[in-house]
Amino acid sequence: MTGSPDNQKETRTLLGRRIVLGITGSIAAYKSAFLARELTRRGAEVRVVMTPSATEFITPLTLATLVDKPVHSDFTESVEKGTWTNHVELGLWGDLFLVAPCTAATMSAMVTGACDNLLQAVFLSARCPVMIAPAMDLDMFTNPATQQSLKTLSDRGILIIEPASGPLASGLEGKGRLEEPEIIAERVEDFFSENLPLSGKKVVITAGPTREPVDAVRYIGNRSTGKMGFAIAGRLADLGAHVTLIAGPVNLPTPDRVAERINIETAEELYEETIKVWPKMDAGIACAAVADLRPMKASDKKMHKDEFPDAVELEKTPDTLKAMGDSKAPGQTLMGFALETDNGIESAKGKLERKNLDFVVLNTLQDPGAGFNHDTNKVTVIKRVGLDTEMLSFELKTKKEVARDLVEMLFQIK
Ligand code: CTP
Repeated sequence: MTGSPDNQKETRTLLGRRIVLGITGSIAAYKSAFLARELTRRGAEVRVVMTPSATEFITPLTLATLVDKPVHSDFTESVEKGTWTNHVELGLWGDLFLVAPCTAATMSAMVTGACDNLLQAVFLSARCPVMIAPAMDLDMFTNPATQQSLKTLSDRGILIIEPASGPLASGLEGKGRLEEPEIIAERVEDFFSENLPLSGKKVVITAGPTREPVDAVRYIGNRSTGKMGFAIAGRLADLGAHVTLIAGPVNLPTPDRVAERINIETAEELYEETIKVWPKMDAGIACAAVADLRPMKASDKKMHKDEFPDAVELEKTPDTLKAMGDSKAPGQTLMGFALETDNGIESAKGKLERKNLDFVVLNTLQDPGAGFNHDTNKVTVIKRVGLDTEMLSFELKTKKEVARDLVEMLFQIK
C-alpha cells in the first residue's frame, strides 16, 4: 500500500522573496534560464536585468516568459514615449541582487563604480545584499586583475559563488564554469535562512488524518483537519528550519517556505515516508491523527450491499511514532501528541515512556475549543527531564499561538 498516486513534493523555500537577477554577457548566460526557473519554482518573485551583451547570448523574451515579467536591459523603455527604467526602484525592490553569470568586465565595473549600463546602475543603487556567480575562461579567472576584483568585492561584503571546475567553452579545462543553477538556488536559500534561529535544523512533521480503505470508495478515517500540524510546520519554516511535512488528506495549502510536502493517505504510507527521512532529522513532531486499525482485506472494487461481509476484520496499523522513538539517535528530539477523553495525564505520560518521547502534547476533547474542527486548542505539555517529567498547562489559544509555544519549547528559543 505504498506510493499514493497523488504523492506530491513541493519546494517553496523562497516564497515571498524578491530577487533581482542580473545576467551579463557570457556563454553561460543560457544557464540563467534554468536558474530563473529554479528560483521561481521555489516561490521567489524574480525580475531580470540584462546587460546589452547578455541579450546576444539569450533572448529577453525567454527570460520574460520564465519569470512572467518584462526584462530590463536598457535605460530607456520607449524612446517615442520617453519612458525609462527606474534602476533605483529596481535596486530598492529586491531582497537580493544576484548576478549570474558575472563576467570579468562586470566585476571590474563593480570595483570601480563604472555605470555604463542598466545592470551597473542597479548595482550602484541596490540597498540589498549582492551575490555574484562569476563565469569566464580559466586564464581570465586566474589573472591577478580578476583575482584582485574578487578580493575587493568580497572585502566589501559582496557574496561570491565560486565558479566550478570542468570543461570550458574555449576548450580549456579548469576553474571558470558558472556553478550549476540548482547549486546557486541552494546558496540563495541558505542566504535567506541564515541568521534565523532554526537555520540548519531539519524537522519532519506528520499532520492530518489517515484513511484506511474498506473498498474502492469507503474508508476508516477520522475528523482531523491537519490545522495544528500545518501551523507548527509554518512556524518552524518561518524560523528557518528545513521542514518536511508528511500530510494526510486535508484541504490546506502548504505553509510558506516549507521545504517539502509529501502527501500520504494510509497509516502504512505515513510510516514508510516518515521512517525513510527520520534518520536525517534533528527533530520529529507526530501530529497526525493516525487510524490505529485497518481492514485486513480491502476490496479494490466498490462493494454492493449484497456483497457486504457480516463483519469487517481489522488489524493494527504500524505505529510511526513508536518506530521513531525506538530508533531515536542521540541529539534527536521527538514530540508526540495525545488526544484523550479521560485519564489524560496518566495516559499521556504512558505514551511518553512507551514511545520514548521527549515531549508529549496532551489535548482533551472535554476542553471546549480543543481538538478537531477548531481554530483554537488548549494543551498541556509533559516534558521529560532526566528520569522525571515536568508539566506545563497553557490557556485556550489559537492553533497558530499554540504552534509558537510548542516550537519554542522544542528548541528552547524565546
Ligand atoms: N501515532 C503514530 N502512528 C500510529 C498511531 C499514533 O505515529 N499508528 C502517533 C500520533 O501521531 C500521536 C501519538 O502517536 O503523536 C499518539 O497517538 P494515539 O493514537 O493517541 O496513541 P496510541 O499509541 O494509539 O495509544 P492509545 O491507543 O493507547 O491511546
